[in-house]
Amino acid sequence: MNGSPRTPIRRALLLICALTVMTAWALIMAVPVFAQEGTTPKPSALDPAGPNSVVIADLFNIVLIIATVVFVVVEGLILFSAFRFRRRAKDASEPAQVHGNTKAEIAWTILPAMIVVTLFVLALQGQQALDAKPAQAAEQMTIKVIGHQFWWEYQYPDLGITTATDLVIPTGRVVNLELSSVDVIHSFWIPQLNGKTDAFPNHVNYTWIQANTPGIYHGQCAELCGASHANMRAVVVAKTPAEFDQWVKEQQAPPVAPTEALAQQGQLIFSTGACIGCHTINGTAATGKTGPDLTHVGSRTTLAGGLLTNTAGNQRRWLADPPAVKPGSIMPQLNLTRTEIEALTAYLQSLK
Ligand code: CUA
Repeated sequence: MNGSPRTPIRRALLLICALTVMTAWALIMAVPVFAQEGTTPKPSALDPAGPNSVVIADLFNIVLIIATVVFVVVEGLILFSAFRFRRRAKDASEPAQVHGNTKAEIAWTILPAMIVVTLFVLALQGQQALDAKPAQAAEQMTIKVIGHQFWWEYQYPDLGITTATDLVIPTGRVVNLELSSVDVIHSFWIPQLNGKTDAFPNHVNYTWIQANTPGIYHGQCAELCGASHANMRAVVVAKTPAEFDQWVKEQQAPPVAPTEALAQQGQLIFSTGACIGCHTINGTAATGKTGPDLTHVGSRTTLAGGLLTNTAGNQRRWLADPPAVKPGSIMPQLNLTRTEIEALTAYLQSLK
């Protein structure tokens, strides 16, 4: 048995084994990718938190089961045939070659066709379930979701509230989202609450979400929209109906004028500087529309399009050099002094 030559069949066998191991490995590696999109927050479409996303997760699971069965059967048959009918040392003769087998050909044509039709029907049913506006009309509310490079704006037309980065919703209610964009195409995606829905300029797209339990649900813009596409996060804050009503009252009220000296200084810098050209703060001279409405910015969980946690430190970091934090940011580097940054931070953080 010294150095038995590698026959073509042995080589093919090795290749098949290697391919099988690689495929299995790729599948194992893919699981955390599906389960944990993103880096810091790890929202998973397989951990649905609302009826809309349950439909998607169920469909995924059914497809995964069917695909796994197909994979195991096909790979199993390949491995079985390769081992069972391999050329043995004693057996020098070629195995009998078979050409054409009507039964086998009919079977491997009809079975995959049936699987494809089944997947098509299931996907169609899922799509219909997502398209259908849920019945409890009285329980519904509508929010306009507007994509910007690189942050989301939220308008509550019935409540007269405009906010950004945090989409605050009440639990147990159908929230209709009217999506659009002021610049390029973005895609609104909260894996635990909805499927990816594109936000186009000059066109309104509809989707709906509903959160079953209070909590924070992270999302990510899902359409390449520029340099900071990956930095365009989304946060849904689901509150109990009572907490939501309280939030609405707070948001509807104009912000309380700052009492602290540093914050007052910040308000002066804000209202006499470049800030008011792009930002709105209700009840003040600031009525700019390019950047996020900052009326109650201090009450939000995040800053900079959901990229930073809303802390004084991050607020300073953002003001010091926005494009360094979020490349392609429309807010420019304003060359603010240290004192100005301190004062502006105190003011913005006071806008609860
Ligand atoms: Cu907005 Cu990607």
